[in-house]
Amino acid sequence: MLTLSIIKPGAVARNNIGKINAMIESAGFKIIAQKMIAITKTAAEKFYEIHKNMPFYGDLCSYMSSGKIVVQVLEGGSDAVLKYREIMGATDPLKAADGTIRKLYGVSIDDNAVHGSDSDENAANEIAFFFSGLELL
Ligand code: CMP
Repeated sequence: MLTLSIIKPGAVARNNIGKINAMIESAGFKIIAQKMIAITKTAAEKFYEIHKNMPFYGDLCSYMSSGKIVVQVLEGGSDAVLKYREIMGATDPLKAADGTIRKLYGVSIDDNAVHGSDSDENAANEIAFFFSGLELL
């Protein structure tokens, strides 16, 4: 199964792409597609539409459009979505378990190093948001 990962602007700016990718690969994932892009606030609003009624929506979308991001498709076992959420750690880096990506490379709840899909259905939608079929061959 597949999941979508985003290395967020702060982690990219702090030169943590390689270290995060090493953790992803060490956990047994294959990075089957990956690109560095910048997105507009409008694109971030569309991506995070599911959170549009949350108080943090505006700040989150501003943050996600504040610098380059790395979007990537990870292939794992049957539980790729769950497995990636485990290695990411809790949303808030201050609450994330030792050894998780967010604990090691996150700084705040928005600047929490990485995003990962939260269900197989959302993973399919999020992958289609960023990648064409051709990029996934
Ligand atoms: P992410 O996995 O990218 O999904 C939504 C993001 O909203 C989340 O990570 C956080 O970076 C951000 N966010 C900010 N405040 C909150 C909050 N109170 N609860 C959940 N997510 C939050």
